[in-house]
Amino acid sequence: MPETILVTGATGNVGSELVRALSNRDVHVRAGVHSVIKGDRLRHLNPDVQLVELDFERPETLTVAFTGVDRVFLVTPFTDTQVQMGQQLIDAAKAARVKQVVRLSVMGAEAEPGIQLGRWHREVERYLAQSGLPYAILRPNSFLQNFINYQGESIRQQGAIYQPLGEGRISYIDVFDIAEVAAAILTDDIPKHHGRAYALTGPQALSTQEVAAAIGQAAGRPVQYVDVPEETARQAMQGAPQWMIDSMMELHALGRAGHAAGITPDVERLTGRRPRTVQEFAQENRAAFLPA
Ligand SMILES: NC(=O)c1ccc[n+]([C@@H]2O[C@H](COP(=O)([O-])OP(=O)(O)OC[C@H]3O[C@@H](n4cnc5c(N)ncnc54)[C@H](OP(=O)(O)O)[C@@H]3O)[C@@H](O)[C@H]2O)c1
Repeated sequence: MPETILVTGATGNVGSELVRALSNRDVHVRAGVHSVIKGDRLRHLNPDVQLVELDFERPETLTVAFTGVDRVFLVTPFTDTQVQMGQQLIDAAKAARVKQVVRLSVMGAEAEPGIQLGRWHREVERYLAQSGLPYAILRPNSFLQNFINYQGESIRQQGAIYQPLGEGRISYIDVFDIAEVAAAILTDDIPKHHGRAYALTGPQALSTQEVAAAIGQAAGRPVQYVDVPEETARQAMQGAPQWMIDSMMELHALGRAGHAAGITPDVERLTGRRPRTVQEFAQENRAAFLPA
């Protein structure tokens, strides 16, 4: 009988790609969504998907969402309560006796002392390891989709990317590849991956200038990279919570210093395909970079 896989954060970057990636596998996909209406678009990615209400801040929804689940993909959003959310989800997975948890973490979560974002993820990783549940951890580098979600507007309106990244190179990954890895693990032998942490990167380490050039080429108009001082980047985030601004600046400092440039073979090993290049990403998402 096909297994039931619960995808949390199913309307997000990685979750929605995973709902799609699981559509051609012999599994039942249950998508945990804030509201069933909001999750409705997932049906275009996977017509057989089952939508279930899941709000990490309403524990009663966890019990229902986890009932009858065999495996779970565990995503928490970028908030300062992500550790509590992650722990609560792991408790729910344990109570439901799921067979496997695949956790979305971040590259460098194991680094000591590391940065705030990594420490939060590490705390959840440790909680998961101590839960006694079979598990695997995905530690991806920065998503190429950030150029749509965070820089998309300035690319479309001004043909410019403003980032405090200097000439630092980053081995950005397309969320498509993270989802393909997750789908492969969630449909594979559980013991093979138990306790493993996979560092997931794209095939190239790119400067922001090179990303801008690839996006410009796909969009058919020049896109310029503007290297801004950290202070300017902080001001541009004014209004956001202080922890978020500080976390982003820590992340940028790592990238600027070249500490996010490592390339790993894990995507290809786990999926049998090389990860997408920035050129493929830019071409595929060309419409997101064109002026309205
Ligand atoms: N961006 C990067 O470059 C990067 C790199 C490495 C690791 N990561 C990690 O990736 C994770 C985020 O993944 P993502 O980008 O796929 O997520 P995302 O696009 O930010 O989406 C977050 C998902 O969580 C859902 N959600 C938010 N609050 C919720 C709540 N209270 N209850 C239930 N669901 C809730 C959202 O639903 P709604 O849409 O309905 O709110 C959405 O489906 C973070 O842990 C981050 O640290 C990110």
